[in-house]
Amino acid sequence: MSKVHVIDHPLVQHKVSLMRDKETGPKEFRELLNEISMLMAYEVTRDLPLKTVEIETPICRAQTKVIAGKKLAIVPILRAGLGMVDGIMNLVPAAKVGHIGLYRDPNTLEPVEYYCKLPSDAEEREILLVDPMLATGGSASAAIGFLKKRGCRNIKLVNLIAAPEGVARVQADHPDVDIYVAAMDEKLNDHGYIIPGLGDAGDRLFGTK
Ligand code: PRP
Ligand code: URA
Repeated sequence: MSKVHVIDHPLVQHKVSLMRDKETGPKEFRELLNEISMLMAYEVTRDLPLKTVEIETPICRAQTKVIAGKKLAIVPILRAGLGMVDGIMNLVPAAKVGHIGLYRDPNTLEPVEYYCKLPSDAEEREILLVDPMLATGGSASAAIGFLKKRGCRNIKLVNLIAAPEGVARVQADHPDVDIYVAAMDEKLNDHGYIIPGLGDAGDRLFGTK
């Protein structure tokens, strides 16, 4: 069974609360998601392997640690996942970025794929699949399925807010994928929206409603 890591640092909780507020407009919403994504990336990358190198400081030669060349790819689920890319790239600028286009059919709540472009060496990379919302889990589970079909084996799912239903779905379908969230919410409403959640993340990011 995969692990769920709740990144509940006070700064993260504070910023998530600001994002939930319906009075927060798209500019501030985007800035907050960017900041939270960077803070989350710090924890998500905690297990990156290190190697020892020798360098010369102004004082002496020293053995110090650097990241052991593990290659990362950030894969946002379009469109709301785009809002998490820059914050993570601030910390890992060498990461490559793939894109998976999915939308949730409003009637069936089933994910519909419309785009997929991954780095050519995606299967050699650790993949951070990012999307602010994990609701029914249908979109995330389908996206992980696409990644696995392309040979990716080392995948972490990074969400801002998750519902228990979505976590259960991903854990059932992909028990090898750890999930990182800033907040675990209560449940879904009858339309598949997270309660209390923050509404439609894509619309709030891009001002489309
Ligand atoms: C939202 C969200 C997730 C999905 C979560 O995207 O960004 O991708 O819903 O729901 P699920 O867990 O029930 O699949 P949406 O389908 O609204 O598309 P958008 O990002 O283009 O707005
Ligand atoms: N997608 C969103 O953007 N918000 C939700 O609460 C559920 C799915």
